[in-house]
Amino acid sequence: MSGEFFDNLFTGLVSRRAFLEKVSTAAVALPLVGTPVAEALAQQGSVSGQVVTPSQPKAAEPDIDQIPDDNPTYSPSNIGGGGRLERNFHRRWIKVSKVPMVEGYAIYDARTQEVFPWPEIEARGVYLNFSGNVHMDGVIYEIPPGKAMAPRHNFYEQNLIGLVGRGYTIFGEGARTSKVEWGEGSLFAAPMNVLHRHYNSDPAKPARLLAITTFPFMLQVFGSLRLVNDLAFNFTDRYDGSPDYFSKSKRIEQRWDETNFVKDMRLSELVEWNERGGGDRSIFWKMAGQTILEPHASEFEVGSYKLGHRHPYEAIILTLNGKGFSLAGKDGLDESKSVKLDWKDGSVVSPPYYWWHQHFNTGDTAARYFAMTEGDFPKRLGIPLDVQQIEANQEDPRIKQRFEQELKKAGVKSAEVHHNLDESDHPGHAHSHGPGHTHSHPHDGDHSHVGDHAHEG
Ligand SMILES: [Fe+2]
Repeated sequence: MSGEFFDNLFTGLVSRRAFLEKVSTAAVALPLVGTPVAEALAQQGSVSGQVVTPSQPKAAEPDIDQIPDDNPTYSPSNIGGGGRLERNFHRRWIKVSKVPMVEGYAIYDARTQEVFPWPEIEARGVYLNFSGNVHMDGVIYEIPPGKAMAPRHNFYEQNLIGLVGRGYTIFGEGARTSKVEWGEGSLFAAPMNVLHRHYNSDPAKPARLLAITTFPFMLQVFGSLRLVNDLAFNFTDRYDGSPDYFSKSKRIEQRWDETNFVKDMRLSELVEWNERGGGDRSIFWKMAGQTILEPHASEFEVGSYKLGHRHPYEAIILTLNGKGFSLAGKDGLDESKSVKLDWKDGSVVSPPYYWWHQHFNTGDTAARYFAMTEGDFPKRLGIPLDVQQIEANQEDPRIKQRFEQELKKAGVKSAEVHHNLDESDHPGHAHSHGPGHTHSHPHDGDHSHVGDHAHEG
């Protein structure tokens, strides 16, 4: 590989894919430390093959706004002193990063989604850039059989879910070390800024994790990869290294458990939510002292669907079992204005911020899903937590007709259609009635799906 190749890599003349192909065909993905590639990667965000401890001096990484932008965005001339440079650090990172990634609203199966060589993490993976999200992201990690990923510590909140296979993760250093063993359906927290390393326990098969993190938000605030990857601070209130850190669990509210590890969310006890109607059953988890990420699992009955709604916070949903579809549209849920996203176990869906969306169970079992939302975080940002819902009596009759057609197609009896309230409808959220179907613009057709699978139906 030539010097020109590396120059072109960082001036964007070589695509991420071309770079990765070149690296993998050259079979130099592992012994990269000390090579120009490793130095280049180190400058981009992390060092391959080394435990980065806060005391170690490290090559300076350029902050996001130090990388020249050929196509900057400015505010209108009457705003912000006239032509303020508008910065979007996460969007900028998406453009300049060499991390393998896909962008869209959904992936049909996170367990089989294509992953790519990712030298910095010493594994394979793919970054899930959900359209419009600037607080939360998803990342699929695939650890080769019997191997470990690079150790990392990050100044952002992160929860991990076992997708495929089994493994364990070591957290902390010295006396503050703890280990968690995970399998398919497991949920565990990676406490803020604690050094951790994921291992695949199976000598024959790859293992996969799905991480959901607040990396985008931390980048949006500070614009600094150095801060995110190299912060020297112990959040002792979030991680004390106690031997029972990943085994203790306590019911702290009617449907809230304080815990850092859930062995299998598919089998977790769910608590009825009768006062919310519709036979909804949920459990919420308070994990690792997190102030943004709010994970929960919920289930809805056979032949039921959630009412259409929108909310001013981000949500990432992983189906644990069952099957169905969701509709999502900026201006409404009519067939002409919305995109249909089919899902089954392993699907990940993230409706874009403040888009209308609605979930339908067309399987012959209850559908259980894991959802990550931001809790009351928007309130702390000064954003009113105004969840708008299209109530049953305001719903366009075509929504129910469409659902019944889909049930018929799937061969599921539609004896009685039940509505359920939304997965993210927690106590404390203000409610107002949605405007129903008063949309004026057809959607602009920019819908795309992450990954290879079309979600037609
Ligand atoms: Fe929602």
